[in-house]
Amino acid sequence: MAQIGALFVCLGNICRSPVAEALFRKKVNEAGLTDYFRIDSAGTGRWHEGETADGRSISVAEKRGVKVDSRARQIRPRDLFEFEYILTMEKSVQEYVEKMARSRTEANPQVLLMRDFDPDARGLDEVPDPYNGDMKDFEDMYEILDRATHAFLQSLLPQLKNR
Ligand code: 4NP
Repeated sequence: MAQIGALFVCLGNICRSPVAEALFRKKVNEAGLTDYFRIDSAGTGRWHEGETADGRSISVAEKRGVKVDSRARQIRPRDLFEFEYILTMEKSVQEYVEKMARSRTEANPQVLLMRDFDPDARGLDEVPDPYNGDMKDFEDMYEILDRATHAFLQSLLPQLKNR
């Protein structure tokens, strides 16, 4: 069975994308779809390579029963071939990934904005970076990602019937 690859990408891979990865994995597991997916997260930068997620991300998720246990890594060219869907947290990240893909014409991932899946986005197209913010910013980030990962999974269900 060909798996669907979903890679969540932000800047540092310590605040937003680890939470998106953990939420999406939980929803996939709860739907009994684990075997259908390859799921990971990455950052455009390598400042935090090998580190656990930001304690504030771990804490907002843990409070709601979601375990964030990823280690930060930078996105690499191979990801463009291994992940069919690349969900980016902001425009600059989407542009970075699209630029990486442009020089690799055999790679054909869909490079999407995560916020476009948020039914409550009210015209906004980015998941705000909470890194320099407070706990309220992390709570808001969690809620956005909870809604957006749910809607993203829902959008994939029709094609799973054909796998
Ligand atoms: P993230 O947040 O992209 O959601 O992981 C950030 C984390 C670290 C930095 C920037 C954003 N940084 O500059 O180190």
